[in-house]
Amino acid sequence: MKFFIDTADINEIKEAQAMGVLDGVTTNPSLVAKTGRKFREVLEEIVQIVNGPISAEVVSTDTQGMMKEARDYAAIHDNIIIKIPLILEGLKALKICVDEGIKTNVTLCFQASQALVVGKIGATYVSPFVGRLDDISVNGMELIHQIKTIYDNYGIGTQVLVASIRHPLHLVEAAMMGADVATLPIKVIQQLIKHPLTDIGLERFLKDWEQVPR
Ligand code: G3P
Repeated sequence: MKFFIDTADINEIKEAQAMGVLDGVTTNPSLVAKTGRKFREVLEEIVQIVNGPISAEVVSTDTQGMMKEARDYAAIHDNIIIKIPLILEGLKALKICVDEGIKTNVTLCFQASQALVVGKIGATYVSPFVGRLDDISVNGMELIHQIKTIYDNYGIGTQVLVASIRHPLHLVEAAMMGADVATLPIKVIQQLIKHPLTDIGLERFLKDWEQVPR
């Protein structure tokens, strides 16, 4: 399973990179806005740090505008993945990207029928948002199960990139379902290895070690 970090913050990317778990990066307009920096500058910096897929989201809502942004970002580096919203104009842009060999991540997926269409067109990744479904009392992980089943049934090659992950259990469930990728906020990456018994155990070992003659 690949781990991406869901951020546009360079320090968070470096932190996850140092932990040795980082396979790629996803950004979105809200995450970029938090940095207060120009997106192109941020992207150019990220591609120097991470040697893996880096999602850059288009903000146009018409196919032509999306393609202008897509070609522009894709020219920055081979690792750039064009993130496209799951709307009709976006699907037309997706088809053009597929034909031109531009790698894609179709975002804002909230139901299985959307994922099936995206898979048929041939996106590289689809991003179902599990946390935002949970927020409205719909089981987000059930969507991952449905998409995995459908993609497996028909041998669809689009990778399932679980997004809007809020806590470690989302990741564990996604891994048990065989999701290809999880994109995680830095907080969740850090939570993954936290266990109170680990901390208590270490404290006890270090205390006992003080009794060992030196
Ligand atoms: O990057 C897309 C997704 O992961 C956003 O997550 O927490 O804003 O729902 P969230």
